[in-house]
Amino acid sequence: MLRAVRPCFFRVSSVLAFRSFAHVPDAPPDPILGLGIAFAADTHPKKVNLGVGVYRGDDGKPFVLNCVRKAEDRVHQKKLDFEYAPITGVPGFVDQARNLAFGAGNAAVQAKRVASTQSLSGTGALRLAGEYLRRFGPPSKKVFLPAPTWGNHASVFRDSGLEPGNYPYYNSPTKSIDVDATVKFIETAPQGSIFLLHACAHNPTGLDPTSAQWEKIAAALNAHGHLPLVDMAYQGFASGDADRDGFAWRLISKSFPCFVGCQSMAKSFGLYGQRIGAMHIQTDTAESTEKILAQVKLVVRAMYSNPPIHGARIVEEVLKDAALTEEWKGELKQMADRMNGVRGSLVKRLGEIGSKHDWNHITKQIGMMAFTGLNLEQVNRLKSEYHIYMTADGRAAITGLNSRNVDYVAECFHAVSK
Ligand code: LMR
Repeated sequence: MLRAVRPCFFRVSSVLAFRSFAHVPDAPPDPILGLGIAFAADTHPKKVNLGVGVYRGDDGKPFVLNCVRKAEDRVHQKKLDFEYAPITGVPGFVDQARNLAFGAGNAAVQAKRVASTQSLSGTGALRLAGEYLRRFGPPSKKVFLPAPTWGNHASVFRDSGLEPGNYPYYNSPTKSIDVDATVKFIETAPQGSIFLLHACAHNPTGLDPTSAQWEKIAAALNAHGHLPLVDMAYQGFASGDADRDGFAWRLISKSFPCFVGCQSMAKSFGLYGQRIGAMHIQTDTAESTEKILAQVKLVVRAMYSNPPIHGARIVEEVLKDAALTEEWKGELKQMADRMNGVRGSLVKRLGEIGSKHDWNHITKQIGMMAFTGLNLEQVNRLKSEYHIYMTADGRAAITGLNSRNVDYVAECFHAVSK
């Protein structure tokens, strides 16, 4: 808990002067990114980082997509200048990003009912969405997040002046999602609330609604006048198919006149540090699109002026070239397949070494995360005794598993869960 400490004022002759920052309280490390720092400081040879959600190849090293390397070379060869981008970002990127999220032939896009801006990856998109919704969203500032949700959601919305709350999503005893409970909550929440939905590869549970369940959720949200806020940080990463993973976003687009969508290219293009993403506001009339965009520009200009250009140029280059896009799709599939493979290896090994627990929920989950069911005490033991780093809620970024460390991790999971 952060303690509020009073600032110090000193009397300087007749005026009270601010002359010290000594009142600044300590703050805890970030529950996800802080793990990376602790991991880097650990000198144990067998250490394993299952903390932050970043993709690694089977060699355990950061993975740069071939299509990205090629696109970067092409961008480099063009010898472009480094002038400021427009406030809403690199125009060609923004168009490609919108098409990727909404899909070909989307009615709202064709009717020019979508106001889009480049953002500082998914987190930046959420922060812009939060700011926009505080100013122009429903009168209720409540934003309901699934329980559990990504560790940063509540902070982003709190800092935007919204009031985060939770709706039921995951059922721990059954290790599955409880869509009936979600729908019931939607039906009883104050009308006109904001509901955050993870479009695919729910973080941290790795469990998504089926298409039929998405239809139920969308119908309930619609019937009770709620506004969907869709967070799509893993398009293509869940199934290896970007169109398939775009299902929920596109369903919401089709079913609602208005919604806000946040998109990240960090995972799907492996462009983490480029901070590349987009925020889209779908509106009911084409006349309001330009006005919305003008308001978004005020928010962006006051916050960071305009976004960086390099990552945007790379993504634009991949998506506007049919051959590079095909290569990207192949690489997405390759990453998704490796993640599924390593899930299977972990569960298989746990069985082979005699674990009496049922770990099959791990192979039913998708995306980067395994929601292991390990408790805080077990997670702490994994870190202190076995040098395996995971978030406190038992989430393991399985991207950190590979053919060299999966047996070790299985043995350690077994050791702490016997
Ligand atoms: C994660 O959940 O590990 C990633 O989305 C990285 C982050 O920024 O938290």
